[in-house]
Amino acid sequence: MRVAVTGAGGRLGSALRDALGGSSFVTDLLAWDLPEHDLDDPESAERLVGRDRPDAVVHTAAWTDVDGCARDPRLAMRRNGTAAGEMAEACVRHGAALVTISTNEVFDGRRTDGRPYGPIDVANPANPYGAAKLAGEQAARAAFGATGDDFAGAALMPAGRCDSTIPPLAIVRTAWLFGPPGSDFPLKILAAAERARAEGRTLDLVSDEFGTPTYAPDLAAAIASLLAAADGDGRRVAGGIHQVVNGGSASRAEWAREVLRLVGVTVPTRDVPMSTWPRPSTPPAWAVLEPTPLPGGPLRDWRAALAEYLTEQIPTQEASR
Ligand SMILES: NC(=O)c1ccc[n+]([C@@H]2O[C@H](COP(=O)([O-])OP(=O)(O)OC[C@H]3O[C@@H](n4cnc5c(N)ncnc54)[C@H](OP(=O)(O)O)[C@@H]3O)[C@@H](O)[C@H]2O)c1
Repeated sequence: MRVAVTGAGGRLGSALRDALGGSSFVTDLLAWDLPEHDLDDPESAERLVGRDRPDAVVHTAAWTDVDGCARDPRLAMRRNGTAAGEMAEACVRHGAALVTISTNEVFDGRRTDGRPYGPIDVANPANPYGAAKLAGEQAARAAFGATGDDFAGAALMPAGRCDSTIPPLAIVRTAWLFGPPGSDFPLKILAAAERARAEGRTLDLVSDEFGTPTYAPDLAAAIASLLAAADGDGRRVAGGIHQVVNGGSASRAEWAREVLRLVGVTVPTRDVPMSTWPRPSTPPAWAVLEPTPLPGGPLRDWRAALAEYLTEQIPTQEASR
């Protein structure tokens, strides 16, 4: 299979290049990123898909600055909504399957029954980033003719089964990504803890925002499995709305304390509400996704993934000081 990845230099894009590059079913891996692939250019998707003719595109490129999206909702809609639709239309025109990445922020997070959001729950974004990502989902579904309830529930079928009536479109919702490259939540918490310790302060941690930390390499392996499951049957991806997150859930404070525990950092901490730091974008308070079945079984618990990541990451950090 010839697979193209947009946003190839980003957190998920980098992990996908590793996961797909090592997969036996991938014959060619095309890495698309700025300036060649530009979400601001309405011709960009058609130009690349028409030129390179991939069998499948994994569309990770997005404007992921949620506060930036709240300051400029029109640009957010262009990059995260309209451009996803253009990529879907180009894929349909050239017979390529599409995996497009979406977010837990399509839900408003106001649920209070303690249950996770499922793929057939009604989306209702609470901020411009979520609204634009939902518009991207809807535009992709319209392009593939995947507007019915059967599409939304298709990923709940036994893992790996590819229903031939479902179009070759996989919407993959995920949450709270961590992993290389660049600074992510675990590395930001470690830096904040170091500052708090140096200044003799308490480290304030948000305890009323919940989600599922997800390790980008685990998500990338799951996406590879959705492509591999369909390889050979002419459909090229297990279609539907997939929700792919590591196991378990946590508040930001619980996630931060696990980072500190694993690295052995001791600093006094205090639970605070998210309202402590007013932001242009309001994150959903309860943004926990129900994972849908995967061909290789559920992803491991987020704590196990975090432990592996920090074991690999911290020596690298120490060496680069
Ligand atoms: N991060 C999370 O916690 C999270 C949670 C849920 C869902 N998601 C979704 O998961 C996907 C991957 O996220 P990520 O964390 O890997 O994001 P990321 O690290 O910010 O990477 C985004 C990629 O998109 C590229 N990009 C940004 N603006 C672009 C533009 N105008 N034109 C073309 N490419 C552009 C970036 O290129 P440059 O680096 O050159 O700017 C980068 O390669 C996104 O669709 C995101 O919405 C992320």
